Amino acid sequence: MTTISISQSSSLARRSVLTLADLSREEIRTTLDLAKTLKRDYTPFADALKQRAVVLLFEKPSLRTRVSLEIGIAKLGGSCVYLDHQGSPIGQRETIADYGRNLERWADALVCRVFHHHTLTELQRWTKVPIVNALCDAHHPCQILADALTLEEHGIDLSSMRLAWLGDGNNVCHSLMQLTALFGGHMVVATPDDCKPDAAWVARTSELASATGARFTYTSDAKAIAGCDAVYTDAWISMGQSDSATKKASMLPYQVTDATMKLAGQNALFMHCLPAHRGEEVLDSVMDSPQSVVFDQAENRMHAQNALLLQLLGADKHAS
Ligand code: CP
Ligand code: NVA
Repeated sequence: MTTISISQSSSLARRSVLTLADLSREEIRTTLDLAKTLKRDYTPFADALKQRAVVLLFEKPSLRTRVSLEIGIAKLGGSCVYLDHQGSPIGQRETIADYGRNLERWADALVCRVFHHHTLTELQRWTKVPIVNALCDAHHPCQILADALTLEEHGIDLSSMRLAWLGDGNNVCHSLMQLTALFGGHMVVATPDDCKPDAAWVARTSELASATGARFTYTSDAKAIAGCDAVYTDAWISMGQSDSATKKASMLPYQVTDATMKLAGQNALFMHCLPAHRGEEVLDSVMDSPQSVVFDQAENRMHAQNALLLQLLGADKHAS
């Protein structure tokens, strides 16, 4: 029998994660360390989620999130049920409360991709099992846990990182802001004036940053990114938003080109949660350059989510 020892106990057991800031800095640290342990070798955790079941409830399409969860949970010996809600939003056939109160009778956790953050808070209110946000209109915490792992793998210290966000101040941007705020780096958020991050989440970020000294520069100047460790961009039009030629035109100055990466610096990483719209927010030459770590980010989705789920399900000390 191999014994795996994890330095901290599962303070996360039975908790929900709707935003990254539902985790403390220490809990994120523990999660990243466990993700690294898993990535090295899943063998000791092969039965960690035996007899446990996770419901994946998706109102929007997914490649990375769905596949990394299904394969990841299988690697831990657990099972998943995928509920496809792309045709009928949760809450249409019966209330969100009743929906959750059924699912909790069978499932050990609900991992949900929804249009409205409110759907998650409503599920959390009525359901005793952990709810994990797999992307909503306001946040994408699973993505940013994987990105934090990727940044560290590329030698970047989360407490002193300098990140540049270019484009739409969207769900992924909000979660990245929370990571920066929790760890204490500096983030430049460069967006058109009418696509800034949501004011309420900016305020929450400021509260978190007051404890760590993290700094934020909100600007419409796409050139304010010199000397950063990583340039991060995302789709100009997120799922659920209507396609808009006007918005895309206003985003053009924020397109990540070779000139952008030169300005950022030769050691700057290029990051994107994917799917990428090549020729819109980023050019092929950047996506496919040695500075691009986008597929590392995608790979790390599985390890970061598995580390989180093991803790939420109280199975992180599993030994086999
Ligand atoms: N990054 C991400 O969440 O990808 P999917 O939409 O394919 O799940
Ligand atoms: N901001 C994008 C992220 C996709 C993973 C969206 O919400 O569509």
